[in-house]
Amino acid sequence: MASEQSDTGGTVVPSRAMVVHPAPRPVDAARHPEARLAEAVGLAEAIDLDIVAAEVVPLSKRRPATLLGQGTVDRLGEVVDELQIGLIVVDAHLSPVQQRNLEKAWNAKVIDRTGLILEIFGARARTREGRLQVELAALSYQRSRLVRSWTHLERQRGGFGFLGGPGETQIEADRRLIGDRIVRLKKELEEVKRTRDLHRKARRRVPYPIVALVGYTNAGKSTLFNALTRAEVLAKDQLFATLDPTMRALALPSGRTIILSDTVGFVSDLPHELVAAFRATLEEVLEADVIVHVRDVAHPDTVAQRADVESVLRELGIGDVIDRGLVEALNKIDLLAESDRHEVVNQAQRDAKLVPVSAVSGEGQADLLALLDCQLAAERQILDLDVPLSDGASIAWLYSHGEVLRRDDDELQAHMQVRLDTADVARFSRRD
Ligand code: GTP
Repeated sequence: MASEQSDTGGTVVPSRAMVVHPAPRPVDAARHPEARLAEAVGLAEAIDLDIVAAEVVPLSKRRPATLLGQGTVDRLGEVVDELQIGLIVVDAHLSPVQQRNLEKAWNAKVIDRTGLILEIFGARARTREGRLQVELAALSYQRSRLVRSWTHLERQRGGFGFLGGPGETQIEADRRLIGDRIVRLKKELEEVKRTRDLHRKARRRVPYPIVALVGYTNAGKSTLFNALTRAEVLAKDQLFATLDPTMRALALPSGRTIILSDTVGFVSDLPHELVAAFRATLEEVLEADVIVHVRDVAHPDTVAQRADVESVLRELGIGDVIDRGLVEALNKIDLLAESDRHEVVNQAQRDAKLVPVSAVSGEGQADLLALLDCQLAAERQILDLDVPLSDGASIAWLYSHGEVLRRDDDELQAHMQVRLDTADVARFSRRD
């Protein structure tokens, strides 16, 4: 949303920021507070904040007024003064009241995790639906806050500075504006959803299987995507110039061409109001022939991250694919100590769908491509069939079970090229 800057006041981004991760006591053993803090810092850096301080603070009891305990609020206030910090990112959900009270106490701008992730999604949403969903989530979030956050609207409209908010009349007027915009956005979204299926079908005419990379933020998806597709000649890409730039053609060892698709990263504890926006950005995963889960096996929370990713994919309605076992690229093995590396390699030897790789050193990448070949060969076949036009039932069956890539009819027969699951190939031949 960087493009939505105002020409009256310019972008209002405080130059110095602090990130605070409140860690509930007792500590959740699967999630390391330091790693969570690092994730929040990484997200804040992604929206170009200059992080001058970051710390984990204890959260033994949630205070309704400020979330954090008074001692913590006071102590952080001193840090804010001393380092002249203008913005504090609190990596938790803050109620509007808590946000306001912390802003008063620290005399600085405060945003919470939802505000932070909204910024990231705003910057990364690719599809039109994704962008609309993000804006809708941002506006709904903003409407609930009496004082506008520094994001979105404020930037669009020139900014009021961070300290002190607009007057009540202004707030009421803004609420109405936001309300009107929400109504318009919802209408636009309906329209986009209506035409979405048409677009999907158009894209599906590309006669190559789609392999989608999914994974936690920072797992290395984009690095792997670039490494795997780097060798490809440009001419091939131009075939797909109309597709999303995060989709690229690639030849597997067998010569089979696939389209590799990169997706937006997952984050833990996705605020519920952002789920729809996130799903819209993940839409292409639903169309993929193979999903590759890229994991950062050098991350201390790698197991919890895996569970997070899988549970979101289940919510998207592809639990059956997960039950059959996702392909996992166990990335960043170059960062592992010898003994840990051994363990990962052993694990992969027991499960053919796991491939240790390094997007940086190149290790394992050939194995991953070979595995994709196997998966595609096992799961999908493209058949050329001649079906008598009188056999309407078979033609209808092919349309409903497979994907008709091409069809030319003559007087007697439909010449069809159809992509079918292996299981359906067998079923089709059993039909007559
Ligand atoms: P999001 O865009 O946030 O979803 O992240 P991503 O999954 O696309 O991760 P990205 O490719 O941006 O990589 C994150 C960081 O990990 C970068 O600093 C990469 O250089 C680094 N990285 C990725 N793969 C590897 C790897 O195999 N080994 C090492 N050492 N670093 C890696």
